[in-house]
Amino acid sequence: MPVTVPATASFSSVDDVVTRLTDLGYIADRRLATTVYLVTRMNKPVLLEGPAGVGKTELAKSLAAATGRRLLRLQCYEGQDEAKALYEWDYGKQLLYTQMLREKIGQIVADAADLHEAIERIGAQESVFFSERFLAPRPLLEAIRAEDPVVLLIDEVDRADEALEAVLLEMLGEFQISVPEIGTFTATTPPYVVLTSNNTRDLAAALKRRCLHMFLDYPSAERELQIVRSKDTGLSEVLAAQLVDIVRGLRELELRKAPSISETIDWARTLAVLGVQELTAPVLAETVSVVVKYDKDVRKALEVIPRLVDPNATIPDSAHGHHHDHPHHHNHHHLPHHDHALAEVDADGAAVRAAKDMPNRFDDGYYGTPKGTTATPAPRTQVSREQGNRSFARRRAL
Ligand SMILES: Nc1ncnc2c1ncn2[C@@H]1O[C@H](COP(=O)(O)OP(=O)(O)O)[C@@H](O)[C@H]1O
Ligand SMILES: [Mg+2]
Repeated sequence: MPVTVPATASFSSVDDVVTRLTDLGYIADRRLATTVYLVTRMNKPVLLEGPAGVGKTELAKSLAAATGRRLLRLQCYEGQDEAKALYEWDYGKQLLYTQMLREKIGQIVADAADLHEAIERIGAQESVFFSERFLAPRPLLEAIRAEDPVVLLIDEVDRADEALEAVLLEMLGEFQISVPEIGTFTATTPPYVVLTSNNTRDLAAALKRRCLHMFLDYPSAERELQIVRSKDTGLSEVLAAQLVDIVRGLRELELRKAPSISETIDWARTLAVLGVQELTAPVLAETVSVVVKYDKDVRKALEVIPRLVDPNATIPDSAHGHHHDHPHHHNHHHLPHHDHALAEVDADGAAVRAAKDMPNRFDDGYYGTPKGTTATPAPRTQVSREQGNRSFARRRAL
């Protein structure tokens, strides 16, 4: 069946990528746009690595929207069963059918001499129950079977176990998946594949080799401002620019969770709602929980905010010469050994951040919307031993 692709589907150039993503509110720099362009031209997956909240997941969504492709999403997590990624047998449906066909099944075994023979006869019918009718495709198989062009997002692959990585390797190389009982499915239109990783562990070299690779870090001040601007936060241009600088300052701290782009956007919205006309230390302090979410991070942020607002606002320790634990009360912001602390963080801030980066929250739409696709599988082909086992184990579990 011919697949109708919208006229807008493929990108004509790197500039075209930039323009069409921008139109959808996704601001990509040329390096990222070039990678995206290559993904769509080379049938190669892309692996996006970087801290949480820099637009990795959003890129896959925007790519789907820009090319008019359906988005299928595999959200990875620890201990994920590969069946949940590839396919399962619809046990409930199999059971329902056997119940409804009880009489028919009864006839088949009616004149069997003994149990052994009865089982043999049922066994001979097995393929009926392990056919496409009872196949429940999960995102990977769905992406391969889809008749319409799709974008496959394999999100936070660093959270998956290495076993799943091996399955991905197999699939991404050939855009094929074998279901031993049925045959091998091959993608008619290769999906655009976007893998993301928050760098909580190293991925297999083989997986990296198979992919175009891109490290997405926090954006430049200019690009972040452009992103904030594109979200119509209601905050004035001047304040938004200041805010972006302040957030960038906070990212330099050794925080458990550095503020992401979405947090900059939220902060801008919050300040706009409050009708703030000037970014002062008190107003930022009152709203800082929008961008830093751990108690300890909040305290660190509060310490530096006055200085981020006004670099001359530091109150040097020596000025009044008291010790940090001194019991006397003072209501100014106290910044002990501040410059020293910052210098230390600058050295390996990125590494520290990466190490503490928390896995991304699960957001909406894991799998996209399944549509009743009916691809015809290629004829039965030879199947690797692992695949045989995989299937066998599942069958035994029935
Ligand atoms: N380049 C960008 N252009 C527009 N919005 C962006 C961009 N990067 C990030 N964002 C915003 O930040 C939010 C978080 O991005 P997300 O893709 O979820 O981060 P990640 O997957 O890297 O953790 C998005 O929902 C979007 O609003
Ligand atoms: Mg994400």
